Amino acid sequence: VLYQALAILAGYLIGSLSFAVIISRVMGLSDPRSYGSGNPGATNVLRSGNKAAAILTLLFDALKGYVPVVLVLKFGAPFDMEEGTAAMVGLAAFIGHLWPVFFRFEGGKGVATAAGVLLAINPWLGLSVLLTWIVVAFLSRYSSLASLAAAVCAPLFQMLIWDVGPELLAIGLMSLLLIWRHSANIKKLMAGTESKLGQKASAAA
Ligand code: G3P
Repeated sequence: VLYQALAILAGYLIGSLSFAVIISRVMGLSDPRSYGSGNPGATNVLRSGNKAAAILTLLFDALKGYVPVVLVLKFGAPFDMEEGTAAMVGLAAFIGHLWPVFFRFEGGKGVATAAGVLLAINPWLGLSVLLTWIVVAFLSRYSSLASLAAAVCAPLFQMLIWDVGPELLAIGLMSLLLIWRHSANIKKLMAGTESKLGQKASAAA
C-alpha cells in the first residue's frame, strides 16, 4: 500500500505542473489565465497566437498523464502495482492538472492530460478517443465540443469494446470531472458565443 500511495502522490505532483503557465512564462508570453477563456490549457494558449507554445503545452500536458502510467505498467509489478494502480496514478495526474498544488489549486480542464492517460492505459482506446476529438473539432471548429464528445465516448468505448475493470472507474471519473470543468463552455456553446479554433483573443477572461 505504501508504494501505491507514493506512486499516486507522485502522479498528483507531476500532474500539478501546469505547462500552459510554465511554457508561457519560459517563452515570455502573457499568462494564459489572463486572456481568452482564462483556462491554463493548450486551446487557450493557441488564442495567444503562438502555435508553438500551444503545441508544447499540449505535448507536455499529455506527457504528464502518459509517463507516470507507463512507468507503473513497466516497473510496478515487483512492487505489487498492476493495471489498477496504473489507472489510479493516471487519475491522480489528471486531478493534479485540475487542482495543481503548485498553482493555488487553480488548474485546467484536463483534456490533454486525460488523452495521455488513455493512450498509456490502452493505446487503441486512446487513439479512438483522439480520433473522435479530431473529427468533431474538424467538423465543428469547437475545441470544447470535441473534448466533450471525446469525454462521452471514452468510457463507452472502454465498456463496449474492452473491459469493465478498474480502468473503467478511472476513465469514467476523468470524463465526469472533465465534463463538469466544461460547464462554462457548455453554456457558451448553447448561447452560440463559444470561440472557434483559430480565433485569437485579446480581451481578458
Ligand atoms: O482543452 C480545453 C478545451 O476543451 C476548452 O478550452 O480554453 O476553450 O475553455 P477553452
